[in-house]
Amino acid sequence: MGNILVVGSLNMDFVVEVNKMPQPGETVLGKKFTLIPGGKGANQAYAMGKLGANVNMIGAVGEDDYGIKLLKNLEEVKIGTTGIKKLKGENTGCAFINVDETGENSIVVIGGANQKITEEIIDNNIELIDKATIVVLQLEIPINIVTYVAKIAKEKGKYVILDPAPARNDLPDELLKNVDIIKPNETEIQILTGNTVNTDEELYIAAKKLLEKGIKNVIITLGGSGSMLVTKNGYKKFAALDVKVVDTTAAGDSFTGALTKALIDKKEIEQAIEFAHIVSSIVCTKKGAQTSIPNMEEVEDFMKKNS
Ligand code: RIB
Repeated sequence: MGNILVVGSLNMDFVVEVNKMPQPGETVLGKKFTLIPGGKGANQAYAMGKLGANVNMIGAVGEDDYGIKLLKNLEEVKIGTTGIKKLKGENTGCAFINVDETGENSIVVIGGANQKITEEIIDNNIELIDKATIVVLQLEIPINIVTYVAKIAKEKGKYVILDPAPARNDLPDELLKNVDIIKPNETEIQILTGNTVNTDEELYIAAKKLLEKGIKNVIITLGGSGSMLVTKNGYKKFAALDVKVVDTTAAGDSFTGALTKALIDKKEIEQAIEFAHIVSSIVCTKKGAQTSIPNMEEVEDFMKKNS
C-alpha cells in the first residue's frame, strides 16, 4: 500500500451544543461543552489512519497540553507525527464550534501554531513528501506554504488533493495548476469562483472555471444532495445516503480522508467518491470531529445494514 502525506492544521475543538444558534446580539444557554480533537488537516489524516491507510502528517502545535493530546490521538491510529513541530511560545490551534439541534455548526478558528508553519519546516521533512504517493492539503495553514508544498509535490510526481476549506477567493493559479483533485462544497466553490451555483448547470460552469486552471478533477460535495464530479469529459452526480444527522462537523474532512484512502487502494475515482459518501454519512450520525470517524469494520457493518 502507498503512503499518504497530509500537510495541514491541528486544532483542539471547543464544542458547545445549543438548541439554536445565537443570532448577532443574542445570548443563548448552551446544553453541553466538550473538548474534542479536530483541525481540518488532522481530521483528514485521522480518517485515513482509522480506515487503515499509511499516513504521515506535517504540521505544527504549541508546547501545551492540547498539542500533546492532539498528537496522541493521531498516534492512536498509527499516523506518523515526526513531521509535526512543537513550536516554543505558540499556542496550539483552537476551534470554537456551536452545534445546533439540526446538527448544523458554526466554527471560528484561532490558527495559533498552524499559522506559523514555514518553508523550513517543510524542507526539514522533505523525505515525507518523497515517501508519499498522495499529498493532501487544506487551507488552515498559510497559503504560501500550501502553494510551496503543492509545487514540490508535483515536481516529485506526486498526486495532489486540495480540500479548499476554509474557502477564499484568492487562490493563486500557481497552486491550482498543481492540483489533481479539488474538493469544495457548494459554498466553497461559490467563493472560489465568484459564480452563483443554484443549479447543476451553474455548478458545472463554476467547476469548469477550475478545470481551466489545470485541475484534473473537481468534486463538489452538496450535503444532503450528494456530490458532483466534474472532469474534462463532463459531469456525473452521486446520491447522498439517507441518515439521521446529529452533527455535520468533519463530514467534509472525512469525505476527503475516505476518498484518499480509496484512491491509495487503487480504486477508480467514482468508487472512491461512493466510499467517501458512506464514511461521511456515518460521521454525520455521531458527535464531534475525530470522535465521529469510523474504522473499516464500522463501515462494513453500516453497508450491510443499508444494502
Ligand atoms: O472541518 C471541521 C474542523 O474545522 C473542526 O475540527 C475544526 O477544528 C475546524 O478546523
